[in-house]
Amino acid sequence: MRLFRRRQTRSDPPAKPEKTLLRFITCGSVDDGKSSLLGRLLYETGSAFEDELAQCGGDLSRLVDGLEAEREQGITIDVAWRFFETETRKFIVADAPGHEQYTRNLVTGASTAELALVLVDARQGVLTQTRRHAFLCRLLGVRSLALVVNKMDLVGYDRAVFDRIVEEFRPFADAFLPIPVSATAGDNVTRRSDAMAWYEGPTLLGHLEAAEPEAARTDDRFWLPVQAAIREPGFRGVAGLVVNGSVRPRDSVFILPAGTATRVERVLVAGAEAESARAGQSVTLTFSSEVDCSRGDLVSSYGTPDVADQFEATIVWMGSEELVPGRQYALKLATQTCLATLQPPKHEIDMATLEPAPAKTLALNGIGLCDLWTDRPLVFAPYEENRDLGGFILIDRVTNDTVGAGLIRHALRRSHNIHAQPLQVSREARAGLKEQKPRLLWFTGLSGAGKSTIANLVEAKLHARGRHTFLLDGDNVRLGLNRDLGFGEADRAENIRRVGETAKLMLEAGLIVLAAFISPFRAERRMVREMLPEGEFVEIFVDVPLSEAERRDPKGLYAKARDGQIPNFTGIGSPYEPPERPDIRIDTTATSAEEAADAILRYLLDPPRRPAGDRA
Ligand code: ADX
Repeated sequence: MRLFRRRQTRSDPPAKPEKTLLRFITCGSVDDGKSSLLGRLLYETGSAFEDELAQCGGDLSRLVDGLEAEREQGITIDVAWRFFETETRKFIVADAPGHEQYTRNLVTGASTAELALVLVDARQGVLTQTRRHAFLCRLLGVRSLALVVNKMDLVGYDRAVFDRIVEEFRPFADAFLPIPVSATAGDNVTRRSDAMAWYEGPTLLGHLEAAEPEAARTDDRFWLPVQAAIREPGFRGVAGLVVNGSVRPRDSVFILPAGTATRVERVLVAGAEAESARAGQSVTLTFSSEVDCSRGDLVSSYGTPDVADQFEATIVWMGSEELVPGRQYALKLATQTCLATLQPPKHEIDMATLEPAPAKTLALNGIGLCDLWTDRPLVFAPYEENRDLGGFILIDRVTNDTVGAGLIRHALRRSHNIHAQPLQVSREARAGLKEQKPRLLWFTGLSGAGKSTIANLVEAKLHARGRHTFLLDGDNVRLGLNRDLGFGEADRAENIRRVGETAKLMLEAGLIVLAAFISPFRAERRMVREMLPEGEFVEIFVDVPLSEAERRDPKGLYAKARDGQIPNFTGIGSPYEPPERPDIRIDTTATSAEEAADAILRYLLDPPRRPAGDRA
């Protein structure tokens, strides 16, 4: 994926022979002079932004479209795309702001760029942000890097200063071209500088004109992520943007992940019959046989790319809140969307040294290596092989913010070697023998709210009526299965995930399961709800004001927490997110435990219908 997608319904680049196109990105720290450098390039090449934008057609309009499409989806990004051209070449520049909080913009820009200009202020030298940007560019597959040492006029055009910065930067990039410039005075931007006769390399523009564009990079494997399936009377086909290789009528292809083989019948480009279509073009295909193919599938000339649901990936974290390992995030890869859970990082990259360092999570701008699993198989390729099928974004399901970008390194082998075994006795048969309908009664609320007390009463009443039950209680589970977990956000998420999986097995066995856990986060309660068949999860909010829970303090824990002895105590050092629409709400200030238990039993006998899409 180009990490933020283009809309794929536009017409193709004009057919007449074109000047080659080069996409590059400018990056570096805040005051390194990116704007003046770009301004200088645009001015000296006689290019004006807006007019040219309109004329650019093809590629650029797709880029701009993509930005709009992302905005429609509520993802705001702030990369300015600039355009200019010379006698020999057209350029698209992603102008990414240098502030710390804008890493996401750099990622957006770099994921489409073929070349990066890393700017340094000659007076400042190499900063953390310079290193981070250089690292990210390389990570995102930008193969060509130029170190632009700007403001040389302010250091007396001193060669020693330049040489020192180049040496400082050397450990952070494999290969790069260093260029000394002054954007304001114009030295070495489009014309050679008399003041720096000691510099023998090309001017910046000369370098941009000579750089090899990326077109050479794609190989002949045809890959089309399906954007839309078209089903009209007399016409069935699929549409999308070709991300690799080319396609012709009569080519043999596979529809992935299903693996169905078929042949291409017609290739339509911009609504007209075409001989072929290649990477970068939007296309509509029809097939010679009736095949099942829908949005998110991939049409491929090979059985590859691969399909898997567990990966190792480099994660670039862009959220203001830290990554919560164990939490589900929405993941978008090419045209596929799913839910993904990340493991704690194996390490993060220390930006001062570029060495791996131990880490429990990733904060804003953190870059680390994580294993993750998805809730369904994804068609993918390693990012190194293909940016479109190897790059993904992670979205917070509550705020809808893009909080991370990921680059797949490889699938985990276990993901290929584990297959679900069909069982002869079904969950219905097991429940049928017990003459009951499996349910998960999920009690959530502050410590001391009365969850365990009420759950115990409900279980006793169900048992007395001959029901087969089991009660999972926070404190008990934490003495056994979850003995290894603490009370940080990630451990609480993992606590609930394991309890959810355990409850799921018990439901398969036909039991009525009661679970009493603080379960303070909406994301994890929602995850458990979504793990189960519709209607099986009953969320019971045992509601008590914090002041009242503290007054009761049955285990003396609130007193300890106030005393600073329990740092992450729910309600004091750690938040509790109350359910927005619980199935049952128990107001413990007005209802006795006995009354609450009876109310829950009445609900079980006669549950109200819940409108679709209603969520915890
Ligand atoms: S949850 O947040 O992960 O759902 P869980 O219900 O399993 O919590 O465990 C809560 C119990 O652990 C509380 O009833 C309390 O006895 C104990 N406990 C110990 N430390 C904490 C803490 N920091 N926050 C909340 N409960 C804690």
